[in-house]
Amino acid sequence: MTVHCHKPGAGLSPILRPSTGELLAGNGPLLIDWVARHGSPVNLIWPDELQSNLAALRSVLREGGVAHALYYGAKVNKSPALLAAALRAGAGIDVSSLYELQDARRLGADGTQLVATGPAKTAAFHNELINCNALISVDSLEELEDLIRVLPAGGPVQAVLLRLRPTNQARSRFGMPVAAIRLCLSRIADESRLRFDGLHFHLSGYSWESRAQALREAADLIDESRAEGFAPRMIDIGGGLPIQYVDQRAYQAHVGEQMPEDYRTGKVPASFYPYGGELSAAEWLRCLLRAPMADGRTVANYLADEGLVLGMEPGRALADQAAISVFRVLRVKAVGPDAHVIFVEGSSFSACETWFGSEFLVDPILVPAMSPPVAAKPIRAYLAGHSCLDEDVLSNRWLTFPIAPRAGDLLVYANTGGYQMDLLENEFHRHPMPSRLCVVQDAKGQPTLVPDTIGEAQCSARP
Ligand SMILES: Cc1ncc(COP(=O)(O)O)c(C=O)c1O
Repeated sequence: MTVHCHKPGAGLSPILRPSTGELLAGNGPLLIDWVARHGSPVNLIWPDELQSNLAALRSVLREGGVAHALYYGAKVNKSPALLAAALRAGAGIDVSSLYELQDARRLGADGTQLVATGPAKTAAFHNELINCNALISVDSLEELEDLIRVLPAGGPVQAVLLRLRPTNQARSRFGMPVAAIRLCLSRIADESRLRFDGLHFHLSGYSWESRAQALREAADLIDESRAEGFAPRMIDIGGGLPIQYVDQRAYQAHVGEQMPEDYRTGKVPASFYPYGGELSAAEWLRCLLRAPMADGRTVANYLADEGLVLGMEPGRALADQAAISVFRVLRVKAVGPDAHVIFVEGSSFSACETWFGSEFLVDPILVPAMSPPVAAKPIRAYLAGHSCLDEDVLSNRWLTFPIAPRAGDLLVYANTGGYQMDLLENEFHRHPMPSRLCVVQDAKGQPTLVPDTIGEAQCSARP
């Protein structure tokens, strides 16, 4: 999708789907008006995109003949509309806190649609999960004991997964090595209020190969547990499916060529999310399903032959293209003979890669408030938030703007739905939290905004 806005940056233009592309291409005044009304930054959501992302994954699973349980990893974004979209599309929800659980329940989820795979569950969270009979992934022997302590006598049997720590993540604090899984199994064997439903893992990194390796380790434990009389029905591979933010070739060229001088810090960050990866989430899943198990069967055939459901909790991949973040330029300040800082209204705590010592390697799109001057000069600048902290930057990279931005222009970060827009947002300097709104079409087919709330004005994609 080509956008006729001004493209700053370093050749890392975001890939856009039509919904955002069309809005950015022809609706500058409307965007300016929305920011005037709702403040900067404003986060805009397209809940339908989550449903398309789900459909793409489901089609691969169906094609592979794999029974599956897809849960949207709600931690990826605070938007209730995205939760609601996942539920409307028949997906479950992976809840990581009591509060995510309560939101999912308010939106109509029942326990059978919920799984809790996070590691740090409080007693109150355990209790609510038990009350609605949600599936619980147990992270440790210690968590299993805590869970047993709060199980009501005579209540329904509580289904649990055990979280495996595969050998390729031996240093992770999450999950359990094989020996601890065995201890949990013998504890469950003595506890009639618990049922072992299968194994779960979630790995850092984004390779399908590491998941295939973990699946092979899980398969051995599934066999072992069946030999001991358990009846596991699921292997759950967590999340980590990739998003393609920018063109693969442009990305590789950029990463290969970038130098310390390209950053105001004089340092290239040590690691980046693979913004221009070679696989879409659906292709990634297809590769995984075709990977060989130890006995040569494909993962898909193994799961089908063994009567196992593939559980998954994609977060980022389901939020692909579901949101953008729009910042208003506050001021452009010279900081050297050929260097500027562009202050935006709003802090970088919500667009957060720089807070992890990394960088969002996706260029912002400039939407000018007024027609640009004919003889505009390019400038080189980095982007800073409005707080008093030197580290409050949206980009440490020097970005080249073919036309210098001016106060009142907008800088749009596309595809911020996956952890980029609200993970670290806060009210520093008492600035209000950024607004989050859903973009829908009005009766004339024009884009308009509705609140992204649970309750009275819930976003259905089409009013
Ligand atoms: C246990 C677990 N499952 C799923 C996810 C979602 O991962 P992603 O957003 O990369 O798909 C996470 C993210 O941290 C996680 O910790």
